Amino acid sequence: MFPGPLGMSLAGRALNEGRWRCDPLQIRDFATDRHRSVDDTPAGGGAGMVLRADVVAAAIDHAAATAPDLPLIAMTPRGRPLSQARVRALAAGPGVTLLCGRFEGFDERLFEARAIEEVSIGDYVLSGGEMGALVLLDACIRLLPGVMGAASSGDEESFESGLLEYPHYTRPQMWEGRTIPEVLRSGDHARIAAWRKSKAETDTRLRRPDLWERHEGARVQPPSGAR
Ligand code: ADE
Repeated sequence: MFPGPLGMSLAGRALNEGRWRCDPLQIRDFATDRHRSVDDTPAGGGAGMVLRADVVAAAIDHAAATAPDLPLIAMTPRGRPLSQARVRALAAGPGVTLLCGRFEGFDERLFEARAIEEVSIGDYVLSGGEMGALVLLDACIRLLPGVMGAASSGDEESFESGLLEYPHYTRPQMWEGRTIPEVLRSGDHARIAAWRKSKAETDTRLRRPDLWERHEGARVQPPSGAR
């Protein structure tokens, strides 16, 4: 599964240029019995299988020994929702070790015995963590130096300001009877900036009231320590 789709397009080019790399490990390679089993039936009964703590810990410890001092993230549906802020921090850091589950998940004792951050890519259940890991990696890779070229500052993008991004237009100027908003053709950079800001605010308020509330809440917070 790795690099999978990240071997193509923007991330693929960056991979070929040596701007990032990926060293996948197979958890099964750390199994110790002759069936090379990585999972077992859930204690207490129920459906599915659970990934064994001993086998997964051996894989984690191997990763930590070969690539030390990287944050360890397990992709799980119960994890903290992935945010652009977390993506930015990871992209600025030394790398990441990603742990991908299958079946019903990991033996809970793993999370007690190792420092593992759990991250979710959304409120739905995938058949495994790999797709989530690809999503996380894609979001990080595009922020790496040299990957996006001139567009790489990305600070006007959705979520960077806590708002959705303003809408975009390009030629043709008239399409199916619709024109590009006049302000965008005015050449008046101050007016354009004001229009974009206003659009970003209205779109966020209407499409993502949750984001809007947080944005507004953040603006009216008193400085920390004040009260
Ligand atoms: N593994 C299964 N579902 C997931 C999700 N929503 N996010 C991250 N990893 C997962």
